[in-house]
Amino acid sequence: MARKKIALVGAGNIGGTLAHLIGLKELGDVVLFDIAEGVPQGKALDIAESTPVEGCDAAYGGANDYSVIAGADVVIVTAGVPRKPGMSRDDLIGTNAKVMAAVGEGIKTHCPDAFVICITNPLDAMVWVLRELSGLPHEKVVGMAGVLDSARFRYFLADEFKVSVEDVTAFVLGGHGDTMVPLTRYSTVAGIPLPDLVKMGWTTQERLDQIVQRTRDGGAEIVGLLKTGSAFYAPAAAAVQMAEAYLKDKKRVLPCAAWCDGVFGLDGLYVGVPVVLGAGGVEKIVDIDMNAEEKAMFDKSVESVRGLVAASRELMPQ
Ligand code: APR
Repeated sequence: MARKKIALVGAGNIGGTLAHLIGLKELGDVVLFDIAEGVPQGKALDIAESTPVEGCDAAYGGANDYSVIAGADVVIVTAGVPRKPGMSRDDLIGTNAKVMAAVGEGIKTHCPDAFVICITNPLDAMVWVLRELSGLPHEKVVGMAGVLDSARFRYFLADEFKVSVEDVTAFVLGGHGDTMVPLTRYSTVAGIPLPDLVKMGWTTQERLDQIVQRTRDGGAEIVGLLKTGSAFYAPAAAAVQMAEAYLKDKKRVLPCAAWCDGVFGLDGLYVGVPVVLGAGGVEKIVDIDMNAEEKAMFDKSVESVRGLVAASRELMPQ
C-alpha cells in the first residue's frame, strides 16, 4: 500500500515542527507549501537529511506552488501570521482571513478529498473561512485548539499533583481564546474528577482556579516569553495527534473546533467540542450536559466566536 500524503500549508515554526514529527512517526510522505521562496524547499531538504539518522522512511518535498499539495490525504494549515506580545489571537483576523480564503481555493482545486486541520488563528473563525472557500464537507474540516488547550491544562495539573501527565485527562470547550471553557467537572486524575480531588485535599479551589486561568492564558504566556512569535511545539504535537486519529481510523475522542449544527444548542458554527475522529473525519459530536455555570461560560465563548465569524465574513472575497 502506498504511503499517505500529508500537505502542510505554511512552512513556518509550526509547519516545520509538523513536518519533523510526521516523519518521526512515519505517518506518511510530507509536502510543504509556503509563499516564502526557498523556505518550504529548505525545510523539506533539511528534515529529509535527518531521516537516515532517525531510521524513518518518509519522503519530503517543498514548493511555492499549490500544485505540490495535489492528491493529499491530509492538509494541515498554518499559513498566516502569528501574534506578537500584546496582541490577542483576534488581532490577526485582517491578515489571516484573506490567507485562509486563498488556501481554501487551493485545497478545492488540488485535493478536495483531503481531511483538513486548521491551526491558523483566530482559530474558530479561520476554520470557518477555510471550509467556506474550499467547499469540503463540514466533517472533513476541523480546527486544532482543544487538544492543545487541554494538553496545557493536563500539564499544569500533572505538575500540581506530581503525577504522570498520562494519568491526567482534561476537557476544554468553546472558542480558542480568552473565553475558552476548561471544564473541571469532566477533568480527572485516573478517573477521579478534579472537584473530588479538591475535597480529598490534593489541591485547593483557589489553586485550581489559578490553573484554569493559566490554561486560558497559556498561549499568551508563551508569546510573552518568546517575544518574536507564538507557541509551536505543542500546537504541532496536537495537530499530529488529530491527523493520526484520521489516518489510522483510531476513533479518538478529542476536543476539536467542529461544525455544530443541531448540537450544543447551535445552528451552524465552528466551536470547540468533543468529537470522535476517525476515517470519516468528525464521525460524531459528543453533546455533553453542562450545568448552568458551564453553559453560561460556553454561551459567552460562542458569542465571541460569532463576532469573529461576522468580521471574517466582511473580509472575504465576494
Ligand atoms: N500562503 C502560504 N503561506 C503563507 C501565506 C500564504 N498566503 N502567508 C503567510 N504564509 C506563511 C509564512 O511565510 C510563514 O512561513 O505562513 C508561515 C507562518 O509561519 P510562522 O510565522 O512561523 O507562524 P507559526 O508560528 O507557524 O504560526 C502560524 O498558527 O498558531 C497559529 O497564531 C498562529 O496564525 C498563526 C499560525
